[in-house]
Amino acid sequence: MKRYRNLVVANWKMNPESIEEAKRIFGSIKKNAEKLKNIDVVICPPFVFLENLAKDKRPKNLYLGVQDIFHQTKGAFTGEVSAEMVRNTGAQYVIVGHSERRAAGETNEIVNRKITVAFESGLLPILCVGEKERDRDGNHLEFLKTQIKECLIGLHKKYLVGITVAYEPIWAIGKSYKESMSPTDIHETTLFIKKIIGEYFGRDIANSIHILYGGSVEVENAGAIIKLGNVEGFLVGHASLVAEEFGEILKVADAKR
Ligand code: PGA
Repeated sequence: MKRYRNLVVANWKMNPESIEEAKRIFGSIKKNAEKLKNIDVVICPPFVFLENLAKDKRPKNLYLGVQDIFHQTKGAFTGEVSAEMVRNTGAQYVIVGHSERRAAGETNEIVNRKITVAFESGLLPILCVGEKERDRDGNHLEFLKTQIKECLIGLHKKYLVGITVAYEPIWAIGKSYKESMSPTDIHETTLFIKKIIGEYFGRDIANSIHILYGGSVEVENAGAIIKLGNVEGFLVGHASLVAEEFGEILKVADAKR
């Protein structure tokens, strides 16, 4: 399955606390998603809620995803969940390499493996990249370059074409829109990401990739980022748990054409 539309992904992280609450938020997002014309929406709840939410009927543009998978396909790996298991629930997307997973020890090599495992099971990976901090000497660009190269190196061309990359500067995650990245800086960085991908993997691949932005996207900054940020959607954390606010973000993303 390949994607041609803009995408807004909800990363619920370790929230909410109960299935009742998860269903309430999901129900409200469903109603909003039905009204959208131009974008696809992906909800990534914690694993324990996935099966239950997947049972519900949902509009064609609303997908389910997960926040992580294991990099092996099966076996004695206590506590882990495989891509195949996720696919069998009806989910279609998986976030890989989120900075909060990387902080728990995930390396670029493991992320690379997860991308392959995801594609082989029929899941679409959303690769997260992003620097811890920015500095005047441009070291953050070197960091980003290494991350992109090591996460994608050796992947089959059929997987690289049209791959979704979520650029999430770590310093902008979990704050408020006021501390988020400016649309101009986002634009600049997306051009850099495409340039790097072009250098390593070729112009065709660079032109085919989809870049999302994540890091304190709220209703206040969503419009400016979608207009000026050169992105094809968002990865939204905390604001995706507030149903009305997330509904507004979806509207803004849908309006761009
Ligand atoms: P945030 O999270 O929107 O709460 O900053 C984004 C993310 O970590 O994916």
